[in-house]
Amino acid sequence: MRDELMRDRLMVALDVPDMEIALAMREKIGGEAGWLKVGLRLFVAEGPALVRKLAEEHKIFLDLKFHDIPNTVAQAVESAGKLGVQMLNVHAGGGPDMLKRASEAASEFPEMKLIAVTVLTSDPMSAEGAMRVALERARMAQDAGLDGVVCSVHEVAAIKQACGAGFIAVTPGIRWGGQDAQDQKRIADPGYAIESGSDYLVVGRPVLQAVEPALVAREVVEMMGAARQ
Ligand code: C5P
Repeated sequence: MRDELMRDRLMVALDVPDMEIALAMREKIGGEAGWLKVGLRLFVAEGPALVRKLAEEHKIFLDLKFHDIPNTVAQAVESAGKLGVQMLNVHAGGGPDMLKRASEAASEFPEMKLIAVTVLTSDPMSAEGAMRVALERARMAQDAGLDGVVCSVHEVAAIKQACGAGFIAVTPGIRWGGQDAQDQKRIADPGYAIESGSDYLVVGRPVLQAVEPALVAREVVEMMGAARQ
Protein backbone atom coordinates (compact mmCIF):
# COMPACT_ATOMS: atom_id res chain seq x y z
CA MET A 1 0.00 0.00 0.00
CA ARG A 2 2.74 2.41 1.05
CA ASP A 3 4.84 1.41 -1.98
CA GLU A 4 1.84 2.01 -4.21
CA LEU A 5 1.50 5.52 -2.81
CA MET A 6 5.21 6.10 -3.30
CA ARG A 7 5.10 4.85 -6.90
CA ASP A 8 2.59 7.57 -7.53
CA ARG A 9 5.16 10.09 -6.33
CA LEU A 10 7.98 8.87 -8.58
CA MET A 11 8.51 10.60 -11.93
CA VAL A 12 10.95 9.05 -14.37
CA ALA A 13 12.54 11.66 -16.64
CA LEU A 14 12.24 10.10 -20.09
CA ASP A 15 15.26 11.94 -21.50
CA VAL A 16 15.72 9.64 -24.50
CA PRO A 17 16.17 10.53 -28.17
CA ASP A 18 13.09 9.18 -29.91
CA MET A 19 9.72 7.44 -29.83
CA GLU A 20 11.06 3.93 -30.30
CA ILE A 21 13.45 4.20 -27.36
CA ALA A 22 10.83 6.00 -25.27
CA LEU A 23 8.27 3.24 -25.76
CA ALA A 24 10.87 0.55 -25.08
CA MET A 25 11.84 2.36 -21.87
CA ARG A 26 8.19 2.63 -20.88
CA GLU A 27 7.94 -1.16 -21.21
CA LYS A 28 11.05 -1.64 -19.11
CA ILE A 29 9.79 0.66 -16.35
CA GLY A 30 6.28 -0.75 -16.44
CA GLY A 31 4.22 0.07 -13.39
CA GLU A 32 7.19 0.87 -11.15
CA ALA A 33 6.68 4.63 -11.55
CA GLY A 34 3.37 6.42 -11.72
CA TRP A 35 4.64 9.31 -13.82
CA LEU A 36 6.77 9.87 -16.89
CA LYS A 37 8.38 13.25 -17.41
CA VAL A 38 8.68 14.39 -21.02
CA GLY A 39 11.32 17.06 -21.41
CA LEU A 40 12.90 19.07 -24.17
CA ARG A 41 14.86 16.30 -25.85
CA LEU A 42 11.93 13.97 -26.43
CA PHE A 43 9.31 16.62 -27.05
CA VAL A 44 11.41 18.39 -29.69
CA ALA A 45 11.98 15.04 -31.41
CA GLU A 46 8.49 13.53 -31.23
CA GLY A 47 5.99 16.17 -30.13
CA PRO A 48 2.36 15.77 -29.03
CA ALA A 49 1.73 12.36 -30.63
CA LEU A 50 4.17 10.67 -28.31
CA VAL A 51 2.83 12.54 -25.27
CA ARG A 52 -0.66 11.24 -26.06
CA LYS A 53 0.67 7.71 -26.43
CA LEU A 54 2.59 7.79 -23.15
CA ALA A 55 -0.46 9.22 -21.40
CA GLU A 56 -2.30 5.94 -22.08
CA GLU A 57 -0.42 4.24 -19.23
CA HIS A 58 1.16 6.96 -17.12
CA LYS A 59 0.53 10.39 -15.75
CA ILE A 60 2.58 12.91 -17.70
CA PHE A 61 4.65 15.84 -16.48
CA LEU A 62 5.46 18.00 -19.51
CA ASP A 63 8.73 19.65 -18.49
CA LEU A 64 9.25 22.35 -21.11
CA LYS A 65 10.05 25.20 -18.67
CA PHE A 66 8.33 27.93 -20.69
CA HIS A 67 10.13 31.28 -20.35
CA ASP A 68 9.01 34.00 -22.76
CA ILE A 69 6.80 37.09 -22.84
CA PRO A 70 3.51 36.64 -20.94
CA ASN A 71 1.29 36.36 -24.03
CA THR A 72 3.46 33.72 -25.71
CA VAL A 73 3.68 31.64 -22.54
CA ALA A 74 -0.08 31.87 -21.92
CA GLN A 75 -0.72 30.57 -25.45
CA ALA A 76 1.78 27.74 -25.02
CA VAL A 77 0.15 26.76 -21.70
CA GLU A 78 -3.19 26.58 -23.48
CA SER A 79 -1.70 24.29 -26.15
CA ALA A 80 -0.17 22.06 -23.47
CA GLY A 81 -3.47 21.94 -21.60
CA LYS A 82 -5.18 20.60 -24.71
CA LEU A 83 -2.71 17.69 -24.71
CA GLY A 84 -4.26 16.43 -21.47
CA VAL A 85 -1.07 16.31 -19.41
CA GLN A 86 -1.34 16.24 -15.60
CA MET A 87 1.55 18.60 -14.90
CA LEU A 88 3.28 21.42 -16.78
CA ASN A 89 5.96 23.90 -15.82
CA VAL A 90 7.11 27.39 -16.64
CA HIS A 91 10.24 29.17 -15.46
CA ALA A 92 9.70 31.50 -12.51
CA GLY A 93 12.47 33.68 -13.95
CA GLY A 94 9.83 34.91 -16.43
CA GLY A 95 8.48 37.13 -13.66
CA PRO A 96 5.12 37.83 -12.02
CA ASP A 97 3.19 38.93 -15.12
CA MET A 98 4.25 35.87 -17.07
CA LEU A 99 3.35 33.59 -14.16
CA LYS A 100 -0.05 35.22 -13.75
CA ARG A 101 -0.93 34.89 -17.43
CA ALA A 102 0.28 31.27 -17.38
CA SER A 103 -1.86 30.55 -14.35
CA GLU A 104 -4.95 32.12 -15.95
CA ALA A 105 -4.44 30.00 -19.07
CA ALA A 106 -3.97 26.86 -16.96
CA SER A 107 -7.19 27.50 -15.03
CA GLU A 108 -9.08 26.31 -18.12
CA PHE A 109 -7.58 22.86 -17.47
CA PRO A 110 -8.36 21.93 -13.85
CA GLU A 111 -6.78 18.46 -14.19
CA MET A 112 -3.40 20.02 -15.00
CA LYS A 113 -1.11 21.28 -12.23
CA LEU A 114 1.03 24.26 -13.20
CA ILE A 115 4.33 24.61 -11.39
CA ALA A 116 7.30 26.97 -11.66
CA VAL A 117 11.00 26.14 -11.82
CA THR A 118 12.70 28.15 -9.08
CA VAL A 119 16.43 27.55 -9.49
CA LEU A 120 17.81 24.74 -11.62
CA THR A 121 19.33 21.97 -9.51
CA SER A 122 22.35 22.24 -11.81
CA ASP A 123 22.86 25.96 -11.03
CA PRO A 124 26.23 26.41 -9.32
CA MET A 125 25.02 29.23 -7.02
CA SER A 126 25.68 28.86 -3.28
CA ALA A 127 23.26 26.96 -1.05
CA GLU A 128 22.26 30.23 0.66
CA GLY A 129 21.76 31.96 -2.69
CA ALA A 130 19.64 29.09 -4.01
CA MET A 131 17.55 29.12 -0.85
CA ARG A 132 16.91 32.87 -1.06
CA VAL A 133 16.05 32.87 -4.77
CA ALA A 134 13.96 29.68 -4.55
CA LEU A 135 11.92 31.07 -1.66
CA GLU A 136 11.38 34.40 -3.40
CA ARG A 137 10.27 32.66 -6.60
CA ALA A 138 8.06 30.16 -4.76
CA ARG A 139 6.18 33.05 -3.11
CA MET A 140 5.91 34.79 -6.48
CA ALA A 141 4.53 31.62 -8.08
CA GLN A 142 2.01 31.17 -5.28
CA ASP A 143 0.87 34.80 -5.52
CA ALA A 144 0.35 34.30 -9.25
CA GLY A 145 -1.90 31.31 -8.57
CA LEU A 146 0.40 28.41 -9.50
CA ASP A 147 0.12 25.02 -7.79
CA GLY A 148 3.75 24.56 -6.79
CA VAL A 149 7.41 24.61 -7.77
CA VAL A 150 10.37 22.60 -8.97
CA CYS A 151 13.25 23.02 -6.52
CA SER A 152 16.06 21.03 -4.95
CA VAL A 153 15.32 18.83 -1.94
CA HIS A 154 17.28 21.26 0.25
CA GLU A 155 14.76 24.06 -0.25
CA VAL A 156 11.56 22.05 0.18
CA ALA A 157 11.08 22.46 3.95
CA ALA A 158 11.51 26.24 3.80
CA ILE A 159 9.18 26.53 0.81
CA LYS A 160 6.51 24.43 2.52
CA GLN A 161 6.83 26.58 5.62
CA ALA A 162 6.43 29.76 3.58
CA CYS A 163 3.75 28.60 1.15
CA GLY A 164 1.93 25.85 3.03
CA ALA A 165 1.98 22.05 2.92
CA GLY A 166 -0.39 21.90 -0.04
CA PHE A 167 1.94 23.88 -2.30
CA ILE A 168 3.51 21.17 -4.48
CA ALA A 169 7.29 20.58 -4.41
CA VAL A 170 8.78 18.55 -7.27
CA THR A 171 12.44 17.67 -6.76
CA PRO A 172 14.99 16.55 -9.37
CA GLY A 173 18.64 16.02 -8.46
CA ILE A 174 17.97 12.63 -6.86
CA ARG A 175 21.09 10.51 -6.34
CA TRP A 176 22.01 7.85 -3.79
CA GLY A 177 24.72 5.40 -2.74
CA GLY A 178 27.62 7.52 -3.98
CA GLN A 179 26.26 7.85 -7.52
CA ASP A 180 27.84 10.40 -9.84
CA ALA A 181 26.00 13.73 -9.56
CA GLN A 182 26.77 14.38 -13.26
CA ASP A 183 25.68 17.96 -14.05
CA GLN A 184 23.49 18.25 -10.95
CA LYS A 185 24.78 20.38 -8.07
CA ARG A 186 22.20 20.18 -5.28
CA ILE A 187 21.45 16.48 -4.90
CA ALA A 188 19.79 14.33 -2.23
CA ASP A 189 18.74 10.71 -1.83
CA PRO A 190 15.14 9.45 -2.11
CA GLY A 191 14.66 8.93 1.63
CA TYR A 192 15.82 12.42 2.50
CA ALA A 193 13.63 13.87 -0.26
CA ILE A 194 10.54 12.27 1.29
CA GLU A 195 11.57 13.26 4.82
CA SER A 196 12.02 16.85 3.64
CA GLY A 197 8.45 16.95 2.37
CA SER A 198 8.99 16.57 -1.36
CA ASP A 199 5.75 15.57 -3.10
CA TYR A 200 7.27 14.15 -6.29
CA LEU A 201 10.79 12.89 -7.00
CA VAL A 202 12.21 13.19 -10.53
CA VAL A 203 14.78 10.54 -11.41
CA GLY A 204 16.36 10.36 -14.84
CA ARG A 205 19.77 8.90 -15.60
CA PRO A 206 20.00 6.56 -12.58
CA VAL A 207 16.97 4.71 -14.03
CA LEU A 208 17.57 5.26 -17.76
CA GLN A 209 21.17 4.08 -17.67
CA ALA A 210 20.48 1.04 -15.51
CA VAL A 211 20.74 -2.47 -16.93
CA GLU A 212 17.33 -3.12 -15.39
CA PRO A 213 15.43 0.19 -15.09
CA ALA A 214 12.46 -1.42 -13.31
CA LEU A 215 14.69 -2.75 -10.54
CA VAL A 216 16.22 0.67 -9.96
CA ALA A 217 12.80 2.34 -9.98
CA ARG A 218 11.62 -0.23 -7.43
CA GLU A 219 14.70 0.45 -5.32
CA VAL A 220 13.83 4.17 -5.33
CA VAL A 221 10.25 3.41 -4.30
CA GLU A 222 11.50 1.21 -1.46
CA MET A 223 13.83 3.94 -0.21
CA MET A 224 10.94 6.40 -0.39
CA GLY A 225 8.69 4.00 1.50
CA ALA A 226 11.27 3.43 4.23
CA ALA A 227 11.63 7.17 4.93
CA ARG A 228 10.13 8.83 7.98
CA GLN A 229 7.43 11.35 7.18
O1 C5P B 1 19.13 12.50 -15.06
P1 C5P B 1 18.66 13.30 -13.90
O2 C5P B 1 18.10 12.46 -12.76
O3 C5P B 1 19.67 14.31 -13.42
O4 C5P B 1 17.41 14.11 -14.51
C1 C5P B 1 16.79 15.17 -13.88
C2 C5P B 1 15.68 15.67 -14.76
O5 C5P B 1 15.02 16.74 -14.12
C3 C5P B 1 16.12 16.19 -16.12
O6 C5P B 1 15.12 15.80 -17.05
C4 C5P B 1 16.13 17.69 -15.98
O7 C5P B 1 15.81 18.33 -17.18
C5 C5P B 1 15.04 17.91 -14.94
N1 C5P B 1 15.15 19.09 -14.12
C6 C5P B 1 16.23 19.36 -13.29
N2 C5P B 1 16.26 20.50 -12.53
C7 C5P B 1 15.25 21.35 -12.55
C8 C5P B 1 14.14 21.10 -13.36
C9 C5P B 1 14.12 19.94 -14.13
O8 C5P B 1 17.15 18.55 -13.25
N3 C5P B 1 15.26 22.42 -11.76
